[in-house]
Amino acid sequence: SQSIDKLFKAKGKDFYGAATDQGRLQAGKNAAIIEANFGQVTPENSMKWESINPRQGQYNWGQADYLVNWATERNKTIRGHTFVWHSQLAGWVNNLNNRDQLTKAIQDHISAVGGRYKGKIAHWDVINEMFNEDGSLRNSVFSRVLGEGFVKIAFDAARATDPSAKLYINDYNLDQPNYAKVTRGMVANVNKWLSQGIPIDGIGTQGHLQSGGGAGLAQTIKVLAATNVKEVAVTELDIQNSNNNDYVAVTRGCLEEPKCRSITVWGVRDQDSWRPQGNPLLFDSNYNAKANYNAIVQLL
Ligand code: XIL
Repeated sequence: SQSIDKLFKAKGKDFYGAATDQGRLQAGKNAAIIEANFGQVTPENSMKWESINPRQGQYNWGQADYLVNWATERNKTIRGHTFVWHSQLAGWVNNLNNRDQLTKAIQDHISAVGGRYKGKIAHWDVINEMFNEDGSLRNSVFSRVLGEGFVKIAFDAARATDPSAKLYINDYNLDQPNYAKVTRGMVANVNKWLSQGIPIDGIGTQGHLQSGGGAGLAQTIKVLAATNVKEVAVTELDIQNSNNNDYVAVTRGCLEEPKCRSITVWGVRDQDSWRPQGNPLLFDSNYNAKANYNAIVQLL
């Protein structure tokens, strides 16, 4: 099958990528498929706080190093995922209840992880999933101890650590243009934070969709791009029970919006997906490209 990455780039976009990690890259045909068909990788789990920095001052670099080396040797772009997230967070961070200690923990974590891969990571998901469905701030150790101040702390630390990386705020259920999490949450807050000088370069919409969800995400890309950010990306696309129009609609939605730079699918094979029901990905259990993949090729 033709590379959707090469075809997407020929239309002026940055890449079509896929999430993976060492275990997947060393199993079956995953590495061969990513080499041939995708231009970017996101570590599915290995850079999350609980994995890479499980105890204060202790870092597990093995799996993240493997992914970064694999991608760098093959000229694949890398999206770092993720510095500040309430989930898959190390227990020691969850237990901090002092402003100075939590601030220093965030700064130390970003400077250690971001510093190790400095210059090799094109985009960082600096903050992941910080909004509730109504657009308010999610209750987490970060918001409880620091209010929304953790946003500036994290983005400033990321910019200082790796100035060439594009810094993203990322979230899920940003799939409908008039949804409160989009309008009152992401759009209103990102414009406010940009006006305060917080260095946010892009908004990521994860794109964990159901059948028929492609059209709504395509419209939402435009709403996110209408903020003052430089760029937007679809960062974790998977579509349960998708009809062939869904992947096409998302891809076309990104093509039609100049600020939309890239699409990343959240895995290669259906059976390896984090939510395998409804065969949400682009390759089947035999590593064959599915109709959804071929429909994207046809569009591009
Ligand atoms: C998921 C991984 O795919 C799973 O392997 C893991 O068990 C849980 O996390 N939003 C995100 C991703 O930002 O990091 C999540 O990845 C899926 C939802």
